[in-house]
Amino acid sequence: MLPIKRQLRSLPLKNYVIRALSTSRPSLHFPIDKKTSTSQDEMDHFNQLASTWWDVDGPQRILHKMNLLRMDFIQETLRNSIDLNQDVESPDEEIYIPGYNIDLLPKPIAEQIIAEQELKREELVKSQPKLKALDIGCGGGILSESLARLKQIESVKGVDLSTDVLEAAKLHQRLDPSLHDKLQYRLSAVEDISKDEQFDIITMFEMLEHVNYPNEVLKSALGHIKPGGWLFISTINRDFISWFTTIFMGEHVLKIVPVGTHHLDKYINETELQDWFKEQKDFKVANSKGCIYLPFNGWSFTDSPNVGNFFMAIQRTK
Ligand SMILES: C[S@@+](CC[C@H](N)C(=O)[O-])C[C@H]1O[C@@H](n2cnc3c(N)ncnc32)[C@H](O)[C@@H]1O
Repeated sequence: MLPIKRQLRSLPLKNYVIRALSTSRPSLHFPIDKKTSTSQDEMDHFNQLASTWWDVDGPQRILHKMNLLRMDFIQETLRNSIDLNQDVESPDEEIYIPGYNIDLLPKPIAEQIIAEQELKREELVKSQPKLKALDIGCGGGILSESLARLKQIESVKGVDLSTDVLEAAKLHQRLDPSLHDKLQYRLSAVEDISKDEQFDIITMFEMLEHVNYPNEVLKSALGHIKPGGWLFISTINRDFISWFTTIFMGEHVLKIVPVGTHHLDKYINETELQDWFKEQKDFKVANSKGCIYLPFNGWSFTDSPNVGNFFMAIQRTK
């Protein structure tokens, strides 16, 4: 391996830093004159990774490790959005939801309130209609498979533009017969999915930072969400910390992911997404969390969604 000083010299560091600190780039307002939102270079890159996609210690190990955190994020957001008193007929049946921090109460009382809430939540989750999910940029299906295994999910459709990666997804799916009827993969851009297809949940994890026209991809995705349904996203802030962790350390020093996986100028700030969703009628950002990967600790949530990697949950309100 080259000494760090030489590696730094060989990187276009100055350009990265200037772009990282620039706030002027309106990254979500790209022209709309392109049919496909992704470059051939990106597709070639992912096609090359297809054969090792399911090697949990291979080039996609970061995605495998991230999967637990994103499943937690999705399930926690869905559970917390449930109105615990939606079916009560009299005030006596209501589940108590204090209008203050529950930790202010004596511990045994707080624990009892939380236990009652959890019991009711579990009951409501079981009685709710099953959900249809669409996983956009599903890659080899790491998230699609986990979603399809959830009891409350009726079906998952995974779409991607990389043929080889989709082949890897289909091959891996065959290893688990329980996925046979619940999960299907299609070679398709989100822009090409039929307008009639509507979903309760759409996921777009680690995908937006690989497209040229995120504005178009997001708009197309929103058109497929049922009223009350959800869009879950993960992507990366365009800042120095992201450059340092995902490109310099991740690609060039620790070589956790292949060189060329990321392009800082395609990263999107959390605040840019927040602003963009404020302009979209009938959608609200319901949850947003930062997350960080530490080589000896794995992925964990942070309190700063506007630094480094982040997850976001958006709900269609009407
Ligand atoms: C980093 S991988 C993430 C895969 C998967 N979402 C995960 O997190 O496990 C990005 C994927 O997005 C796909 N992709 C990029 N642009 C796309 C587009 N416009 N439509 C569909 N898939 C796309 C790539 O082919 C690649 O498989």
